[in-house]
Amino acid sequence: MTVTIRLETAVDAPNVFAVEAAAFGRPAEAELVEKLQQAGVDTISLVALLDDALVGHVLFSPVIVKSDEGEFTAVALGPVAVSPDHQKEGMGSALCRQGLEACREAGYELAFVLGHPSYYPRFGFTPSAPHGLRCQFEVPDEVFMVLELMPGALQNKRGTVYYHPLFSGV
Ligand SMILES: CC(C)(COP(=O)(O)OP(=O)(O)OC[C@H]1O[C@@H](n2cnc3c(N)ncnc32)[C@H](O)[C@@H]1OP(=O)(O)O)[C@@H](O)C(=O)NCCC(=O)NCCS
Repeated sequence: MTVTIRLETAVDAPNVFAVEAAAFGRPAEAELVEKLQQAGVDTISLVALLDDALVGHVLFSPVIVKSDEGEFTAVALGPVAVSPDHQKEGMGSALCRQGLEACREAGYELAFVLGHPSYYPRFGFTPSAPHGLRCQFEVPDEVFMVLELMPGALQNKRGTVYYHPLFSGV
């Protein structure tokens, strides 16, 4: 079996929807991905193929970090999903790593993720609250994490991280 990670194309949309819905066991994340893409706010969208079958997907979208001193743009990882039949085979990690590298190449300096505190530290994410960076949503500190895509990018960065308004519906 051959694993391929590549950029999503228009023909992948139905399979991306199916994988997101199956992985989360509900349609909310699949619908969010669809709406973000229709709104043109996805930044990087990668799919994982096992031979020719689409079994994984990750989406990155821009976030705005606001404080009294101003605002800047960063990127957020998620949702990420791997088909239940193929979880724990490394595809989620491959999608996250390659996606983060693509964000770095696109010039983003910081990436955020709202997710499992036992999963994302393997990519270098650490809780963002100690850096003075908080999520717009009321979530436990350990589930909102940040990663420097450029060395030193966390210096003098403070504020509240705002996702695209479509995330508020999930
Ligand atoms: C989370 C997810 C994308 C990981 O993809 P994957 O291909 O199974 O992950 P990998 O094979 O790269 O890594 C496997 C590791 O992830 C861990 N993992 C998988 N799902 C996890 C979860 N929900 N919470 C915490 N850790 C999880 C496994 O325990 C395993 O850990 P180990 O390496 O220490 O043994 C996938 O399990 C999934 O689609 N889950 C349902 C949707 C979801 O919860 N998405 C993330 C929302 S934050």
